[in-house]
Amino acid sequence: MSSAHPLIAEFQRAGQAQVFAFFDELAPDAQQHLLAEAAEIDLAEIDRLNRTLVAQTGAAAGVNLSGLAPAPYEPLIAHGGDALAWERAKRAGEDALRAGRVAAFTVAGGQGTRLGYDGPKGTFPVTPFLGKTLFQVFAEKLLAAGRRYGRPLHWFIMTSHQNHAATEAFFREHHFFGCDTTRVHFFRQGRMPAVDFSGKILLEAKGSIALSPDGHGGSLRALDRSGALDLMEREGIDTLSYFQVDNPLVRAIDPAFIGWHLLRGSEMSSKMVPKAYAEEKLGHFCAQNGRLVVVEYSDLPMTMQREINASGQLRYRAGSIALHLLDREFIRRMARSDGSVVALPFHRADKKIPAIDAAGQPVKPSKANGVKFELFVFDALPFAQNPLVIETSRADDFSPVKNAEGVDSPQTCRDDQRRQFARWLNAQGVALATDATGLPAINLEVAPSFGYDEDSFAESWARLSVRPTLADGLVLT
Ligand code: UTP
Repeated sequence: MSSAHPLIAEFQRAGQAQVFAFFDELAPDAQQHLLAEAAEIDLAEIDRLNRTLVAQTGAAAGVNLSGLAPAPYEPLIAHGGDALAWERAKRAGEDALRAGRVAAFTVAGGQGTRLGYDGPKGTFPVTPFLGKTLFQVFAEKLLAAGRRYGRPLHWFIMTSHQNHAATEAFFREHHFFGCDTTRVHFFRQGRMPAVDFSGKILLEAKGSIALSPDGHGGSLRALDRSGALDLMEREGIDTLSYFQVDNPLVRAIDPAFIGWHLLRGSEMSSKMVPKAYAEEKLGHFCAQNGRLVVVEYSDLPMTMQREINASGQLRYRAGSIALHLLDREFIRRMARSDGSVVALPFHRADKKIPAIDAAGQPVKPSKANGVKFELFVFDALPFAQNPLVIETSRADDFSPVKNAEGVDSPQTCRDDQRRQFARWLNAQGVALATDATGLPAINLEVAPSFGYDEDSFAESWARLSVRPTLADGLVLT
């Protein structure tokens, strides 16, 4: 094998010579491609992860639970929250929006394996009647919010190497759904190599390393590297509203949340929903030695997940639904930290990774054959000043499309959207028949331009000169 290239020599010294095992067989452009991929890899980081995550198993690799307690949070008014404080927060958030201090941020770099949809997940048709795609729903919500507050919003969209070109093409094809093209910003997240259980970097083909997105936590570095933070600074934006590409129900721009975040001087704030039942697979907001942390459902012992407090509620009930507000300079600090003290930790995920073996033959693993490394955005919370958790109503913020069928599927999401539209109508005094779960009998869809939350819906409804009939279904645009 050629070792003339300094990068190849570096990989050899790091015990990763197998990456270039087939180098001499490759055509010159394929050699360049492999070298470029290899140059993305931080070998010292891989070595550290091999020692700390791959070699460690059992208790040594487990999460530290000492001093863990449930995290405090601001409850909704309906659950005992301070109505005046919520009103003050909403006003402060609206002021910030009118001042143009907020931008939206969608993380869309995931692989969407569970949904099994061919294409970027944001291009998945999701609304119940018109079949609008996830990206269109967000675009329309952001356009409507921008109009409402008199300041068009910037929208940052994080893609992956795999779906970047297709995502941009989709937006172009749809004329950016009416958004100002100079305010929609796409950037790619970083990648990490997968390793086998002995820490050797895997090849997916002779000229290509098994690389995959570095997790949604990679967004902090990618926001910095892409110039998004500088752009925010130039535009006077200090707050980023973070949401996932698979959740069309989200209040992408929520004045009360923004207000709580700003009034508390928080660098990172999150929304929680009370867990529906102990075994529900949500991360838990917890306090640990004076810091706010999220402990994943797989890391919190089931006995603790089932603990009940004096009021008969789950003690660890604050479930994370991946909705955050982030301060711009906090992101910069996290992205540029030297990694020794302030840094997001990588998590280990054992996966079936399509790869080639030592003879260059493709292996299609039937069980996990290696490890992927991922960063999680909520791991930034312990480093934030004045971090804050507020409660939200699940029905108005969270119905993700994760699986092709069953829970968190397109069907459950469409039904949750219809329930939301029905609630908005019923709040206006329309007697809409629903079943016991709130699902309306008729076809129903509300375009975000008409209403993207209860307040904006109420305003549009009040402006209607003729009230629509409901007999055959209703589409409000
Ligand atoms: P998920 O954890 O649901 O992962 O991502 P996923 O890749 O979309 O789906 P599966 O697990 O393969 O079925 C939650 C959110 O984080 C984004 C996803 O696009 C989604 O919005 N994400 C995830 C990234 O942007 N980058 C990543 O590396 C991982």
